[in-house]
Amino acid sequence: MKIVAANLKMNLNYEEIKNYVQKIENYDNKNIIFIPTSIYAPYFLNRGYSVGVQNCYCMDKGAYTGEVSPSQIKSMGIDYVLIGHSERRIYFKEDNDLLNKKIREALKNNLKVIYCIGETEEERNLGKTKEVLKEELMSGLKDIDDEVIIAYEPVWAIGTNVTPTSLEIEDAISYIKSLYNYPTLYGGSTNDKNIEELNSIKNVDGFLIGGASLDVEKLEKIIKIVL
Ligand code: PGA
Repeated sequence: MKIVAANLKMNLNYEEIKNYVQKIENYDNKNIIFIPTSIYAPYFLNRGYSVGVQNCYCMDKGAYTGEVSPSQIKSMGIDYVLIGHSERRIYFKEDNDLLNKKIREALKNNLKVIYCIGETEEERNLGKTKEVLKEELMSGLKDIDDEVIIAYEPVWAIGTNVTPTSLEIEDAISYIKSLYNYPTLYGGSTNDKNIEELNSIKNVDGFLIGGASLDVEKLEKIIKIVL
């Protein structure tokens, strides 16, 4: 069964999120995962959806103002956490070492981790895509035996309306699976127009969707095709 994960990022205010939640169908499918700004998680939990948060810290509790721990996340009934999204890596300077610590703490608390990896445009142009994927996987998952979900998100494809070709995605995901044979999602400018083609790539286990997931109609079209 494939996964559709909606990464709402830092979008929607209180009124908008209420509308959004009201509009979504009553899916009885745990493979549809809503990943809203964390303060809105209860609205999605109340409706019985699978829920994730967009980040967590690597400690259990204590004086870490502004952070949220995996044990707190789990105690809310939230099952998933995104770790290593490129926006965290770029804007908040999160490196593979820190991400490795976060993944360990999340797994220790029985959260399902969606670990994001992907090359920048510059790295792609230098022919370094596989090198980068390998480094992010090997360091991020160092000394970790538990399975995680990988999200392959080429940084240059996020929010740009440009995607790699199906062959490029298939090739990158085969490479990822040759190193870690885990469920692997594709993310980066997935929308209701290109989903049919993306969904036909044979080794893709689902999608992490940003922009298009803010529009309930688009998201529902995607869900209908994928699940
Ligand atoms: P996008 O974002 O679908 O808007 O490109 C995907 C993501 O960042 O997870």
